[in-house]
Amino acid sequence: MSFKDKIIKERLPNHLAIIMDGNGRWAKMRGEHRIIGHQNGVEAVRQTVEGAAELGISYLTLYAFSTENWNRPQDEILGLMSLLVEAIENETPTLMKNNVRLKAIGDLESLPEEVREKLQGTIDNTAKNTGLTLVLALSYSSRWEIMNAVGKIAEKVHSGDLAPEDVNESIFESHLTTSGIPDPELMIRTSGENRISNFLLWQLAYSELYFTDLFWPDFTKEELYKALLNYQSRERRFGKTSEQLNDN
Ligand code: IPE
Ligand code: IPE
Ligand code: MG
Repeated sequence: MSFKDKIIKERLPNHLAIIMDGNGRWAKMRGEHRIIGHQNGVEAVRQTVEGAAELGISYLTLYAFSTENWNRPQDEILGLMSLLVEAIENETPTLMKNNVRLKAIGDLESLPEEVREKLQGTIDNTAKNTGLTLVLALSYSSRWEIMNAVGKIAEKVHSGDLAPEDVNESIFESHLTTSGIPDPELMIRTSGENRISNFLLWQLAYSELYFTDLFWPDFTKEELYKALLNYQSRERRFGKTSEQLNDN
């Protein structure tokens, strides 16, 4: 029996976020260049997107490139950017077939023009799809996003369009790049690192966190099901007591 058969459909996360980590180490273990790891990570993306779409999950956010990743060696950055262009191009038919809508969050203006164009093309082409929303976090960091929101709110207060006393959680959230996307119920990170690395700091406030030692290229649909089952075994208390939850 596959893990899939044990999943309770009614208790799936509405939004799943993933830090896809460990491509470099996966390649190194095989005596290969880091970029080979990134190339093999694309298959794991395919499996995860398909798996999430088949299960009926509404949102899947994948951390693909962080603001801090711009500090990597130039050849790796270039390799990642061309892989991105290639993957967006090659995967568009699969996104269409699976009724997936593509979105992107992050400082997209800092991406090379070719990446931005391809990305926008696929965002436009998939805009009418009604299944899974796939959110790519590109040149993303949560502190960048939060400071960006704070700046926009400050401008509105300064110009008189917004009163300081009206600034609340929902106004703040509407200025984040994730505006309109619900908070993730579950966040998965591969590669054995137990940290958040500047990913969705605000949005993960009450998310369940799941860490696996697998390197990202080894992540499969079956591993996705395993993580979802683990999530379903947890009690989400949101500050309440277990008794309060069970009485209701
Ligand atoms: C994740 O894998 C992909 C990106 C950050 C772009 P890494 O490239 O970080 O792989 P490790 O962590 O060095 O093994
Ligand atoms: C986090 O991975 C960013 C992405 C997966 C895109 P990193 O490999 O960059 O994270 P750190 O630097 O090890 O925390
Ligand atoms: Mg890493």
